[in-house]
Amino acid sequence: FPPERIRNFSIVAHIDHGKSTLADRLLELTGTIQRGHNPQYLDKLQVEKQRGITVKAQTTSMVYRHNNEIHEAIDKHDRPVYLLNLIDTPGHVDFSYEVSRSLAACQGVLLLVDATQGIQAQTVANFYLASECNLSIIPVINKIDLPTADPDLVKEQLAATFDLDPSEALLASAKTGEGLEQVLAAIVERVHPPRGKVDSPLRMLLFDSYFHDYKKVICNVAVVDGVLRKGNRIVSAATGKGYEVSDVGIMHPELKSTGSLLTGQVGYVVCGMHSTQEARVGDTLYQRRSTIEPLPGFKPVKHMVFSGLYPADGTSMSELEHAIEKLTCNDSSVSVEIENSAALGRGFRCGFLGLLHMDVFHQRLEQEYGVHVHNTMPNVPYIFEFEDGNKVEMHMCTDRYKDKKRKAIWEPMVLAKIVVPSEYVGPVITLCSEREGEQVQFSFITGQQALLKYRLPLREIVVDFHDILKSITSGYAIFIYEEAEHQRSSLLKLDAFLNTKKVEAMATIVHKSKAESVGKSLTQMLKKFINRNVQNSIQVVEAITGRVVSTERPLDYGFGVSHRRSPQSNRLGCTESTALSLSKIYCTRVPAAPLERKGVKKQLNQHRTVDIPREAFLDRMKFS
Ligand code: GTP
Repeated sequence: FPPERIRNFSIVAHIDHGKSTLADRLLELTGTIQRGHNPQYLDKLQVEKQRGITVKAQTTSMVYRHNNEIHEAIDKHDRPVYLLNLIDTPGHVDFSYEVSRSLAACQGVLLLVDATQGIQAQTVANFYLASECNLSIIPVINKIDLPTADPDLVKEQLAATFDLDPSEALLASAKTGEGLEQVLAAIVERVHPPRGKVDSPLRMLLFDSYFHDYKKVICNVAVVDGVLRKGNRIVSAATGKGYEVSDVGIMHPELKSTGSLLTGQVGYVVCGMHSTQEARVGDTLYQRRSTIEPLPGFKPVKHMVFSGLYPADGTSMSELEHAIEKLTCNDSSVSVEIENSAALGRGFRCGFLGLLHMDVFHQRLEQEYGVHVHNTMPNVPYIFEFEDGNKVEMHMCTDRYKDKKRKAIWEPMVLAKIVVPSEYVGPVITLCSEREGEQVQFSFITGQQALLKYRLPLREIVVDFHDILKSITSGYAIFIYEEAEHQRSSLLKLDAFLNTKKVEAMATIVHKSKAESVGKSLTQMLKKFINRNVQNSIQVVEAITGRVVSTERPLDYGFGVSHRRSPQSNRLGCTESTALSLSKIYCTRVPAAPLERKGVKKQLNQHRTVDIPREAFLDRMKFS
């Protein structure tokens, strides 16, 4: 296929607007897959099938005979043939990084809008991503088979929101197949062909990679200039390392060796790369002995959430290491550092794009690589400001700077955009205020849909904000967020101790008002790590104020208090009211025998509380 017969396009849409279903139908219509195959062909991962969402962008090539009014008169076999390369993309806000990478390999997008829901937050975000990349945008109004479909209203929205000509919008049903011939024809007619130079030295963009058991790393590439052939020597612009191409081909829809990839084509390359350190997404690959200008890479990934991962339930560190290495090859947006904890052993500190991304990564580790992990409390990256004026960004609460006097902690903020049907505006405003949000905008997009913009602390949205938002709006709320400036806040550091040893990986930063609730979750989490050895003691202390926040099992675990400089000294220095409140919690859980040994009043009923004499309580505190 010469470049003028190639079209590289992507389907972008808000979550559930029908991208994967449309991709299936296009693959069927072009004969790439059989009718009646497994639905959502491109959602290959188990996690995608279970959650019904696309997590990973997939690429596939289709051969299409152009069929429009002009060609109708021509015999079917004489109509011009095109190679259409489709890149299916995820819809959830956490995976927009995948979307922007995929778009770099395209010249056009189908902007899919559900005819019953109209334009939603992610539709807007994707439209702007595509416009920034100068891509041709073909609006497709999907699900017109549904009785509640209102394509005219969606056309009005497209004109009002994006200034698009409503007559350019195509009407389709990915379910029934209606209007899809026009969609295929529009791809050929409205998306421009790739503009590379056939005669120039080879230049290709590595836009994705994944791990294959036999072939090792498989790179997805878009050939921008020149031709790539099996046996060629290629070089990575990022690392300077050279490789020999052992296999090259297209995804049709499975890997299909073609022996070469021509200018403008999208396909795969196997060249003996072994890891993500080698297969760097965004890298330019070129032919040995040519001097080339590397292609613009991708924006660096911004990690929003960090968490420690430790081997659990029979998984060894080397198994976990191996699994993470392979999985990050498939999901290069995760950052990984080795973490050593005196109490928990060796593990990894990983950075994710959001909480869903983190959950999906854990699930994929278990499902695809059979490893089990414990994770530590998710942390967001804070900026520590010291008295000497230095500022350091930290995504874990290390003791590295413990000798420096801290002046302030700055926390990351986000600008959240929430689109909800008007009747849910009240509960959403309440939720945002509870989460310390500051309203920036409140307007109506249409008569029934409101747009709320809030400045919120990132820590308030990474844990359960999205779930709660969905539940109070019966699943209708649309939520996207972007980074905003850091803000100085009243934050406390909680330190965790296991058998009096500080567990750095468990340290976390919380807002003053959340110390108790976070303290409790932290104890639960720590218990998981050590449940095979109940003789351990756990203590979580607030580093500056010396205030006890919570406790679980006093004889085995305890939340204590300490001063930053000396965890031991303040354990006895907590206030009486704290001691009393602690003693009540203690008594509800403490087994009777050890308490009796200590001369403390007997407590057998797990649900009633009894007071422990203060002296006895303080005595108990000493042990941990
Ligand atoms: P993500 O990958 O999670 O972003 O979702 P998606 O945009 O790929 O949506 P998907 O194709 O999974 O479709 C979501 C739901 O809408 C599924 O239940 C589809 O069967 C349904 N659906 C998709 N297209 C149509 C259509 O044209 N008509 C009707 N009635 N249902 C459709």
